[in-house]
Amino acid sequence: MGIALAAACGDEPPALPEIAAAPIERVVEDPSDAPLAGLSEEELVRFEDGDARFELPFREAQGLGPLYIHRACTSCHEDDARGPGAVRRIVRRGADAPALPWGDVVRPRMTAGASVPVMAPAHPAIGEAVRLAPAVFARGLIEAIPDAAIEANARRGTGGRVARLRDGRIGRFGHKARTATLDEFVADALLGDMGLTSPVRPEELPGPEGIRDDAKPGVDVSDEEIALLADYVRLLAMPRREARDGTVFEEIGCATCHLPSMRTRDDHPVRALRDVDAAIYSDLLLHDMGDGLADGIEEGAASGREWRTAPLVGVRHLRGLMHDGRARTVREAIDAHASEGSEANEVVARWRALGEDEQRALITFVEAL
Ligand code: HEC
Ligand code: HEC
Repeated sequence: MGIALAAACGDEPPALPEIAAAPIERVVEDPSDAPLAGLSEEELVRFEDGDARFELPFREAQGLGPLYIHRACTSCHEDDARGPGAVRRIVRRGADAPALPWGDVVRPRMTAGASVPVMAPAHPAIGEAVRLAPAVFARGLIEAIPDAAIEANARRGTGGRVARLRDGRIGRFGHKARTATLDEFVADALLGDMGLTSPVRPEELPGPEGIRDDAKPGVDVSDEEIALLADYVRLLAMPRREARDGTVFEEIGCATCHLPSMRTRDDHPVRALRDVDAAIYSDLLLHDMGDGLADGIEEGAASGREWRTAPLVGVRHLRGLMHDGRARTVREAIDAHASEGSEANEVVARWRALGEDEQRALITFVEAL
């Protein structure tokens, strides 16, 4: 993984390191930024409006800050995929670690007169954990899968559990499936990543200086702006892919977690999302992935060792693999699945026992997803 320096903008402090992991080799060149086929005229208009908002950097006058990470969704979801921007989480390792009164997310940039960012306290019991973004395409399909299908996956007896949130709903979004719907995720992204408040998230996050507002008094974005961004994500097409032979993927058990397909509900308000086979390659369950991937952060229903099965749909578009981009190739990603206590250990052992040709067939399959 390479470290590059982010470009410094006028009102921003000195450049901070950002993750710039090498993209995995693209075997199919295609755009990821296309709407679902069969949208109505009205849906297409919303898609396009949301698309423009997804790319536009927010300005101070629109309520950016007072503390923020990046100005545009695309800073961390370039081409609707992953990176180059990242989120740095602050992790307390042990009971002597100092409390984190301003939350556990590094918010390095400032506007609206703020002069003290939120950074990880320098302390031997404090660490940092990087999170790269999942892609945002095909997320409308993920949202459209009925709860019962996810619950059925957990009953197969092959491991994994439903990310049941405190209010009883099933978490689907975020690396630890902490959020149930796209609208809520977008509201959280606006507040947490950009310092933009909204009717559902009306309070600025606390900061060291106690600044309660920014250059735009009161709530910064409307419910409708959130809905447009969520609709853009919701209506993004599944990236096209070449059909390749997935036999080895199924045989050794990658497909038990990376379930090739689930059926969406038949009563979804968007016709194009209704009753389709969503080839997302995830069971949408939480799995204990062992010491190696554990970050010690509890989120939603997930423990510090659990992760949502990463949807492999469009994985060829991603820069860096696994939640923190530690793997640059599919081979490295598979290796990262194995460590003390990981539910994937047996499958990785089967992968290691494969002959060279079968290994190559599996990699070729995954690289084309
Ligand atoms: C500072 C970087 C950053 C910015 C800016 C950002 N995101 Fe994200 N996004 C992430 C990260 C990191 C995650 C994974 C979060 C987690 O689980 O910790 C994520 C997750 C998501 C997801 C969930 C995807 C999934 O499969 O679970 C959606 C949807 C999303 N972002 C949409 C947006 C939108 C819309 C914007 C702009 C309003 C935005 N993001 C801005 C970094 C960013
Ligand atoms: C026990 C469930 C499980 C099994 C079995 C499993 N995976 Fe995964 N896989 C996951 C989880 C959970 C993640 C996300 C972990 C993370 O982000 O740190 C993941 C991530 C990945 C990623 C990275 C995706 C991304 O968005 O960065 C790839 C590639 C991948 N798996 C391929 C495979 C292959 C190939 C196999 C079979 C050899 C396999 N997996 C077996 C659960 C599983």
